[in-house]
Amino acid sequence: MQLNQKTVVITGAAGGIGRGLAERFSDEGAHVICADIDLDGARNVAAKIGGDAFRCDVSAENDIQKLIETVEDTIAPIDLFCANAGILTLGGLDVPDADWDRIWKINVMSHVWTARHLIPRMVARGGGYLMTTASAAGLLNQPGAAPYGVSKHAAVGFAEWVALTYGDQGIRVSVLCPQAVRSEMIRGHETSVAAIDGILEPDDVAQACVEALAEQRFLILPHPQVLDYMRLKTSDYDRWISGMNKLNQQFTDDV
Ligand SMILES: NC(=O)c1ccc[n+]([C@@H]2O[C@H](COP(=O)([O-])OP(=O)(O)OC[C@H]3O[C@@H](n4cnc5c(N)ncnc54)[C@H](O)[C@@H]3O)[C@@H](O)[C@H]2O)c1
Repeated sequence: MQLNQKTVVITGAAGGIGRGLAERFSDEGAHVICADIDLDGARNVAAKIGGDAFRCDVSAENDIQKLIETVEDTIAPIDLFCANAGILTLGGLDVPDADWDRIWKINVMSHVWTARHLIPRMVARGGGYLMTTASAAGLLNQPGAAPYGVSKHAAVGFAEWVALTYGDQGIRVSVLCPQAVRSEMIRGHETSVAAIDGILEPDDVAQACVEALAEQRFLILPHPQVLDYMRLKTSDYDRWISGMNKLNQQFTDDV
């Protein structure tokens, strides 16, 4: 997909990766709708790029449905929906159920609800594009962060399912799986395991996305090392688990 003159919705666009995507996609000629639970932040980004801003809490299906309906009814059909909003929850067996519920809604169900309300519209008009911001943690897990690693695996799994189910009906899917990217999410965690191969800037991630969208490539890996780790995982799962266990011991006190 070339972004020029496309209508693009980005959730979590008030800051971090979402903001980087909004600015870059706008530079490419897209009309960007910045959606975020932080409406002031979304408005700031939209004002800078000549886009629109909406308040949307992606943990609520109603908000996602309303966002899609309002954009399609009052602006234009959505060509590309970037489901980017996500949260990080650290911890393991100690994490309360309420925290699991919250991250599950934001990191997983938001993608289901987006697909539920948008894919039938896209299929009816011959196609459309969904881009999910997952994480390298959705491919390789994350020591010290069970809810994050597990929910991001589910996000990747759902993106795969959408792609394999609707590919023949014109639906394209990409899944963005970076390691550490400079944003509020990793503030204070700059020496964590996620930053083991360096911290990218949101601009670098946006560049990788523009290239992958142009090629309609499913997997977007701004940190190329992730592909090597995936190959190691699939070639010898037990060796990979053992290596990750060592990494866990090394980083256990500093997620
Ligand atoms: N920063 C990293 O190192 C990194 C690495 C891999 C993947 N990711 C993923 O990238 C995405 C963006 O993260 P980021 O690093 O830019 O984080 P960030 O915290 O800087 O930005 C997240 C944005 O999402 C918004 N948001 C949070 N909860 C929301 C909700 N319920 N509804 C709507 N908006 C909500 C926030 O207001 C914020 O603007 C997330 O899905 C995250 O898991 C981040």
